[in-house]
Amino acid sequence: MDNNKESWAQQIRECRACGSTDWQNVVSLGQVPLANGFLEQGLSYEDEPRFPLAVVSCRDCRLLSLTHVVDPAVLFREYLYVTSPSDTMRRHMRRVADLCEERFGIPAGSLVVEMGSNTGEQLAAFQDDRMRVLGVDPARALAAVATERGVPTLPDFFSATSGERIREEHGPARLVLGRHVFAHIDDIADVAAGVRRLLRSDGVFAIEVPYALDMLERNEFDTIYHEHLSYFMVDTLATFFARHGLRVVDVEHLGVHGGSILVFVGHQDGPWPTRPVVDQMREKEQRAGLHEDAMYTGFAQTVEETRHTLTRLVGELRAEGRTIAGYGAPAKGNTLLTTCGLSNDQVEFCTDTTELKQGKVLPGTHVPVRSPAYGEEHPPDYYLLLAWNYSEEILRKERDYLESGGRFIVPIPRPRVVTARSAN
Ligand code: TYD
Repeated sequence: MDNNKESWAQQIRECRACGSTDWQNVVSLGQVPLANGFLEQGLSYEDEPRFPLAVVSCRDCRLLSLTHVVDPAVLFREYLYVTSPSDTMRRHMRRVADLCEERFGIPAGSLVVEMGSNTGEQLAAFQDDRMRVLGVDPARALAAVATERGVPTLPDFFSATSGERIREEHGPARLVLGRHVFAHIDDIADVAAGVRRLLRSDGVFAIEVPYALDMLERNEFDTIYHEHLSYFMVDTLATFFARHGLRVVDVEHLGVHGGSILVFVGHQDGPWPTRPVVDQMREKEQRAGLHEDAMYTGFAQTVEETRHTLTRLVGELRAEGRTIAGYGAPAKGNTLLTTCGLSNDQVEFCTDTTELKQGKVLPGTHVPVRSPAYGEEHPPDYYLLLAWNYSEEILRKERDYLESGGRFIVPIPRPRVVTARSAN
């Protein structure tokens, strides 16, 4: 890897989905550090790299894309992000396995390959159903953890080359899965080529990505960070896959991560009929204003207002002498804090259940990350709910904190304060 940090980010030249260069500028969030770039405590942070974080919309296929791509070797080789061991996520993974198996009649013994398989949590659900599984993940440490637990995992990026090699070594796959990884990849055409080679003729490629329409309509601007290169609509994906010999056959709209879509893709001439929901969702996107600049301008305006409201609320509470801590240290929390100009002057610490994050400090704001036990011993007056995508589970779990007078600030879609009474 080149030590010159300037060279770690490249400006995009054309739309990665359709090749167009006709862009609408949507939002620009400034020079921002990497959202999963947690730092050791007590270091000098002068060298911390920052990169432009801005979103544009392709006026041809309406892919929403970051303007700059950070080298994936910088982002993912030493990745600290581990799949959250939450009840919500465990239930969700079970559901994903059921949906894939039931809709496409996948029998026990079939080969299931997952790209970006992390610690193997999702593939373990397929193993419970006696599938043959193989993970592919460039994060070496995570691939080792997965293999250790019995989910064989290649420490690699998924590509046309690795797709081909997997087919040679393991045979064609009945299911290729990519949960929250497709939006992280720059060369999606290369991934599509790898999938085409690896999939059986009746195989299915299932990708789960955050749903761009939900992000726009629910003001989830903190999900914008350097790892998320693309923000997809069903329409954009359908057009993209059609150019690569593949066809979107089904879509399921899910609640996780602030609203996601599970998109099922087969070979263009494969046996799976295209279910009506695909066109229904594309029509809904058109009606919402997919092809009009106004939808994106409206989003940008709401983002500005939210940043302003949250900064003011936190400023007022601090002026009254209230203490504030972050609940959770998700990547999106770092976008929120950095782009609202908040720092460790306002937010004393964050609690997070991920041991790898505890003892480190957040990128950019340098707020220390503590364990949930520390939070119980030092309850702040207000918790800023950075992991708002788990708000139901967390507000339920934190009943005692609320009952004893603690409050939550839920920042998204619009900042609001939750008390014991309003949580009911
Ligand atoms: P996640 O939703 O995976 O978000 P992102 O993709 O933005 O990183 O992260 C949730 C974080 O919140 C994760 O670090 C674990 C933490 N967390 C808690 O600390 N307590 C909880 O009860 C839950 C559900 C999550």
